[in-house]
Amino acid sequence: MNMRIICLLLILVPLLTKGQDKVAPRKFKENYWYKNSIIYNLEIGVFKDSDGDGRGDINGLIQKLDYLKMLGVDVIWLAPFQPSPGADDGYDVADYYGVDPKLGTAGDFAELMYQVRKRGMRVIMDLVINHTSDQHPWFKNARSARNARYRDWYVWSPKKPRDGDKGMVFPGVQNTVWTLDSATNEYYYHRFYKFQPDLNFMNPEVMQETQRIIGYWLNQGISGFRLDAVPFIIEVPHTGSEKPKLDFDFLKDIRQFTQSRQADAAILGEANVEPKESVNYFGENGEGIQLMFNFFANQHLFYAFATGDLKPFKKAMEETSEISQSSQWAYFLRNHDEIDLGRLTDRQRQRVYDAMGPDTNMQLYDRGIRRRLAPMMNNDRRRLEMAYSLLFSLPGAPVIRYGEELGMGDDLRLKERLSVRTPMQWTSAKNAGFTTADSAFRPVIGDGAYGFMNINAEKQWRDSSSLLTRIAAMINIRKACPEIGLGTSTILETGSEDVLAIRYYYDGKSLITLHNFANAPRKAAFSIGGRGNLYDLWDKKGDQVIENAGFSLELPAYGYRWFRVDGILP
Ligand code: NOJ
Repeated sequence: MNMRIICLLLILVPLLTKGQDKVAPRKFKENYWYKNSIIYNLEIGVFKDSDGDGRGDINGLIQKLDYLKMLGVDVIWLAPFQPSPGADDGYDVADYYGVDPKLGTAGDFAELMYQVRKRGMRVIMDLVINHTSDQHPWFKNARSARNARYRDWYVWSPKKPRDGDKGMVFPGVQNTVWTLDSATNEYYYHRFYKFQPDLNFMNPEVMQETQRIIGYWLNQGISGFRLDAVPFIIEVPHTGSEKPKLDFDFLKDIRQFTQSRQADAAILGEANVEPKESVNYFGENGEGIQLMFNFFANQHLFYAFATGDLKPFKKAMEETSEISQSSQWAYFLRNHDEIDLGRLTDRQRQRVYDAMGPDTNMQLYDRGIRRRLAPMMNNDRRRLEMAYSLLFSLPGAPVIRYGEELGMGDDLRLKERLSVRTPMQWTSAKNAGFTTADSAFRPVIGDGAYGFMNINAEKQWRDSSSLLTRIAAMINIRKACPEIGLGTSTILETGSEDVLAIRYYYDGKSLITLHNFANAPRKAAFSIGGRGNLYDLWDKKGDQVIENAGFSLELPAYGYRWFRVDGILP
């Protein structure tokens, strides 16, 4: 090469390649553990009794960890287990730093953490800090005198505020949110029952104490918290019970503090809010709490289950689809409370009541149903299976309530939400193998279709066609579909109003799930946007080769299919 060409190249090459050396900003792959975890919620007291006193305990739970592992659980969400008078089933905490002696000791808890870790699982716990029990020493002190040391840890008013009868969480059972403390002649604020006085988060000492509580439990091996009653924690006191101001910075602070102590700890918030509000909770860039239950979608899903009308649910899914990359929705079918239908229209709610909870005794707080899923679905196996397949394929982390994997029933003789908190049904032995005591502290469901002779874990695990076995298989398949929790999702057109089709993309992989909400076969036709193969993840009898961009299949009544596009392996 002569000198002139070399000089020309020396001038031209840098000009032509200008800008090419700008490396795209490095983006690490979002792969947070909580985005794809299978979460299992249980109450220690009703799970398994190890010492024959009639109540479940920590050692009983330890005995059953292998069952949870076998089911495919990644994260155990423990309902409140701290010392408590138990007036709201533990959501009335009397000591944040202890273990309820009825459930075990601090040593038992440490052993639980070790055994969970050993099995590669995690524990998150309820953090109930909106309020304490009225038996908590702080409140006892606070109500002892107007100038007491802990007085400002709670919210007081000399007069009953004008909207004091508004904003009750338990209408029908509760009749005010301000109760007179006769000793000091002032009213204290309580969003929930009157034995649950709200803490005053405007007081920096309360925030500091909350940090200590978080730090303490992280030190015990906890991986995160299910933060109870989030919209009420962040209420600014005295700005009204109906539409109080909300302090969203609190959520950023608590998130920051938690991660300063343990980088991968996560907070799962209980906040039943409108879709447009959720960004305030997650944070514009995911700087708020990491996870929230998708209550909004859940209520519309129940409307779809009850009526077959999918439109409001699809809309709810679309309205809740835009969240930051590190944020995640938690989906559930049943939880420990009533199914809250408060965000449906009166007409929609009535239709769900008619189909799923027609007796007034099945309804609660003017907004919900206090039944388990199986009775609500008339124990129809096809519907239950479709519902669970859907749960495991919705774009978020699935949360299962103990016993739902068996199709357990409810006990409507028990008050309020206790109906769905009966002891776990392990075997067909006396008291469902839950306890060896003569009787359990809360009755076991003994009779009828949902009685423990019919519905128990041992019987179902022996049966390869049982709901339990099917759900374990679903979890197994879900774990091989990282697209669901980590990818992007779109609802596909299928030409059928009764079929929900969702397509996921993640890391070069793609998945399509189909669910038929009708009690009759339905044709679904959809396009995958080009030629390709669909691999059925359930029915592995052969693959469907698509000759053109369109594809059509028939789903049986309440049928479901999961396909991976172009290659079956995850
Ligand atoms: C929400 C919980 O889910 C519920 O069970 C409890 O009663 C209230 N918060 C009060 O803590």
